[in-house]
Amino acid sequence: MTGHHRMVSNVSGTHPGTTTRHHNKEHTMSTASTTSRVAVVTGGSRGIGRAITRRLAADGYDVAVVYTSNESEAATTVKEIEAAGRTGLAYKTDIADAPAVERVFEAVEERLGGVDAVINSAGIMPLAPVAGIDLDVLDHVLRTNVRGAIVVAQQAAQKVRDGGAIVLFSTTVTRTRLPTYGAYAATKGAIEVLVPILAKELAGRDITVNAVAPGPTATELFFEGKPQELVDRIAGANPLGRLGTPEDIAEVVATLAGPARWINGQTVFANGGLA
Ligand SMILES: NC(=O)c1ccc[n+]([C@@H]2O[C@H](COP(=O)([O-])OP(=O)(O)OC[C@H]3O[C@@H](n4cnc5c(N)ncnc54)[C@H](OP(=O)(O)O)[C@@H]3O)[C@@H](O)[C@H]2O)c1
Repeated sequence: MTGHHRMVSNVSGTHPGTTTRHHNKEHTMSTASTTSRVAVVTGGSRGIGRAITRRLAADGYDVAVVYTSNESEAATTVKEIEAAGRTGLAYKTDIADAPAVERVFEAVEERLGGVDAVINSAGIMPLAPVAGIDLDVLDHVLRTNVRGAIVVAQQAAQKVRDGGAIVLFSTTVTRTRLPTYGAYAATKGAIEVLVPILAKELAGRDITVNAVAPGPTATELFFEGKPQELVDRIAGANPLGRLGTPEDIAEVVATLAGPARWINGQTVFANGGLA
């Protein structure tokens, strides 16, 4: 793995680019002199993103988490990063808000010295049959899952250091094609097409770009609105006889973010063999 070493002498205190702007609320941070890689994890406060954050901190990354609403989950996640001996930052920022996301990346560069891995786990999953899709809901899912992913990818393409990695998120539903997942799967299909194109655009910089496509994974996004009987049926349909865990997905992301340099421009299906 290519390492980037630099000193972070003091990352506490205020920063005009973040703490004073209403879209980018910065939570807590440790004071530490460290050498490590730096990751930005959107959606890093909950679910799969939180497991990724924990895993990257354990692997020696300082981690900046981007979330949109749940401040206490973000603060808890920052504490977990610090418990691993790394620096944790949290920014309350909608990934589709381009100027705000740019400010987050600038703040992370200033505080942590650069960015080596960008993981865009933030996403939403409204479900409805195509015939009944509410177009306001459609706009929201397109804005978050497509525009948001592209805004984050833009910043990543501009700022990730040579030797780094960009990981976006798709879903196994682009293969299983279940009823009611049409709009959501369409947003994720867009990511699968974007990834190999961005990988080629970054030629010459030793930056990998991949998507991870989880199968059903035990997070709030998955459980919402599903009766236990349906959850059990979905778990039982997997060759490994269970749901995925956030840690299963974090393992794959950590591999793509660091050692797996020869996997580039791919969508990696992490689903226990479901599809
Ligand atoms: N769980 C599954 O079964 C599954 C399967 C396939 C693919 N995926 C994909 O995996 C990714 C993670 O899913 P998950 O299950 O971990 O979801 P989750 O538990 O619902 O967590 C979503 C995270 O994204 C953040 N977020 C949502 N909208 C945002 C926005 N506009 N800007 C910034 N942050 C935002 C949330 O922050 P707040 O808490 O502050 O709102 C939260 O941290 C998603 O892209 C999802 O589509 C999940």
